[in-house]
Formats: sequence, C-alpha cells, structure tokens
Amino acid sequence: AKPLPLKGKRVVVTAGPTLERIDPVRYISNFSSGKMGFAMAEAARDLGADVTLVAGPVALDTPARIQRIDVESAADMLEAVLSRYDEADIVIKSAAVADYRPKHAADQKMKKQEGDAAIELERTTDILKTLGAQKTHQLLIGFAAETNDALTYGRGKLESKNADYIIVNDVTNPDGGFGNDTNVVTLVSRDGEMPYPAMDKRMLAHQLLTYISEKEFDHS
Ligand code: PMT
Repeated sequence: AKPLPLKGKRVVVTAGPTLERIDPVRYISNFSSGKMGFAMAEAARDLGADVTLVAGPVALDTPARIQRIDVESAADMLEAVLSRYDEADIVIKSAAVADYRPKHAADQKMKKQEGDAAIELERTTDILKTLGAQKTHQLLIGFAAETNDALTYGRGKLESKNADYIIVNDVTNPDGGFGNDTNVVTLVSRDGEMPYPAMDKRMLAHQLLTYISEKEFDHS
C-alpha cells in the first residue's frame, strides 16, 4: 500500500476565534466555532501527520491522537505557534484571529457612565504574516474570510503574507463560513485557483489536504 502522504510531517493547525479582554467580564471576539480548524487538524492526522492544534476558546472536544494547546488572545496564539515554528513542516492558520484588541484591558469591571462610551483599540500582530516573513522550509496555508471581492483579497493575502496557499471562504454564502458544518471555498495558490462545492467541513478539509500534500510531497 502507498504510505500516507503526510507521514512523518509535523503540522501545526490554529482554530477558533481569539478573545481579547476589555475588562474582567467583557471581551471582543468573533463567531468562529473552530469547526473548520478542527477538521483541518483531523484531516492532517488521518493523512499521517503528527498534529498540534492551537485552539482559541471553542466548545469542541479534542480529537483523538492530536495534541491540543488552548490559548485565549492573539498574543497567546502567536507565542504558541512561533515556539513550534522551527520544527513544523506545515502550518495551517484556520483561526479567526482578532485584528484589534483593547489598548488597555481594565483590571476592574468598567462602570457604566452617563452617555456613550468608546474603547480605544490597537492592532494585534498578524501571525500569518510573521510566519511568512520568517519562513525557511515550512509550507504555509492560510485562510481568508471575506464578504466581498473574495478572490481578489485572497490573492492579495497570498502575496502580502508570503503564504503558499490561501483557502478563501466567502463568508456571506449561506452554506459556508462561521459556525456552519459546511463550507464553500476556493483554494488559491501561485499556480491558480480551484473552487470547491459546498460540503461538510471534515470532507472539505480532507480533500484540500489530500490535494495539497500530493502536490507538495508525493513525488513517487
Ligand atoms: O471556525 P468556523 O466556525 O468553522 O469558521 C471557519 C472560518 C470561517 C473561521 C475559517 O474557515 C476561516 O476563514 N478562518 C480565517 C478567518 C480570518 O481571520 O481570515 P482573515 O482574512 O481575517 O485572515 C487571513 C489569514 O491571516 C488567516 O489565515 C488568519 O488566521 C491570519 N491572521 C489574521 C489576523 C491576524 N492578526 N493574524 C493572523 O494570522
């Protein structure tokens, strides 16, 4: 029998949202459930890889034979991924990382005041871009969640983040995106674009990684 295409490969997958604290009881986050990232982790495992799953706060069980590291903020996720980057063969950034966080997280619960309020935000570090800039041998797979001009933005992210593949989801599609069990994506690389029909995130993850691993690693 043919050996599994990712046998011996170390794969780091990120999944879920990040949570950025405003004060001890409030936060900024997004609607990522972690399903897509967990499906990517399971698919990589099933193709033979040794998988570490760096998960933001999600309500999903840890898949069998996968090492899970729970993180909260974008800063925690950056640290968890960077510390494993040298040994990784593939990094898959499925997480919906917050682009902004409160500039000052309050130590105590913020009290209501008369009138409106504003929270000053600062940029978080772009993890994928950081990985792209430090890339040596790793294969970098990112996602792009877009509501408009999805392919244009996806191609832009491939270049600006120095990724090898960007999996673009149009998150306005009712069959895809945040929270759903299914997703609709286009795989973008420097060789071109490949659209996938709507399907269960697990099956989609398996098809995406089978295609990518055959292209990148199977030279038999
Ligand atoms: O979790 P689910 O409910 O299953 O939903 C799946 C999903 C829609 C969240 C997933 O398929 C997806 O698209 N994940 C990426 C969402 C996202 O943050 O896209 P983006 O276009 O904002 O970011 C582009 C890429 O840069 C992503 O790989 C992201 O992980 C990465 N990024 C973004 C910001 C940042 N500060 N650091 C990053 O690494």
